Amino acid sequence: MSTTAEQQLSTKHLLGIKELTREDIQLILDTAENFKDILNRPIKKVPSLRDITIANVFFENSTRTKLSFELAQKRLSADIINFASASSSVNKGETLIDTVNNILSMKVDIIVMRHPYAGAGVFLSRHVDARIVNAGDGAHEHPTQALLDAFSIRQKFGEVAGKKVAIIGDILHSRVALSNILCLQKLGAEVMVCGPTTLIPKYASSLGVKVEHNLRKALEWCDVANMLRIQLERQDIAYFPSLREYVMLYGVNKAILDSLDKEITIMHPGPINRGVELTSDVADSDHSIILEQVENGVAVRMAVLYLLAGRRSLEN
Ligand code: CP
Repeated sequence: MSTTAEQQLSTKHLLGIKELTREDIQLILDTAENFKDILNRPIKKVPSLRDITIANVFFENSTRTKLSFELAQKRLSADIINFASASSSVNKGETLIDTVNNILSMKVDIIVMRHPYAGAGVFLSRHVDARIVNAGDGAHEHPTQALLDAFSIRQKFGEVAGKKVAIIGDILHSRVALSNILCLQKLGAEVMVCGPTTLIPKYASSLGVKVEHNLRKALEWCDVANMLRIQLERQDIAYFPSLREYVMLYGVNKAILDSLDKEITIMHPGPINRGVELTSDVADSDHSIILEQVENGVAVRMAVLYLLAGRRSLEN
């Protein structure tokens, strides 16, 4: 199956799920299905972006997102360059716009950027002449994570609409939470957030999600539990008395899953803190689709890059 001329994204950048329509999301997921088929072939590469150069500009640590984008770009035959802030002239005082404009002067078409500050991608898109893909901006959005999560739910259940998804853990500091809420709602899922009061933002209920502070009730309600880690690197004060207490109240273990009268699917965007938000026997169990999420991330990111580059036919 190929995408057709009418099937285009409504936006020239991927800054957040907020800017995408339901049709945009469905187009990305449908295109990702095609790329997933290609990734299962002996030759996993297509020449779609052979004329495109992409810079991966990471101002923050990443394992999954960076490697997944890089692999997606290689599978699409794009030329790529990688920029890590730790070894760059940013440390000599260069601004973000100057840094990116210098990269763009080397004939780069697309910037994939992770940045610690919320809104960095939106800011950049207003000041430089390139397509911008947000690979995570502070505690704001992580759109490709939400898209790969929705793709993984669709793969598991056949559709996202009508599914009940509980996002459990540190919602306050999570970019994955906001992007997931927006994406799942646009696709017709019901969303709940669950965690201690201090880690649920006050505006959560205004997003149209259910708010629950009792883990058992959240697990009894949901079809899918998306477990988030405690983002200690973004916490400047103590949000709960001790990690031990957090684990007792919000850690998912096999005993609590076995005590439910139904099976639920466990997701996690990574990196996992084993023994905190979930135990190893849950992370590695048949309930978990954590590694499928990572696998699907490559196909989803291929779809995003392919569509932002304005391509129409998968095989050329
Ligand atoms: N899920 C995610 O963003 O992981 P990384 O921080 O390793 O990219």
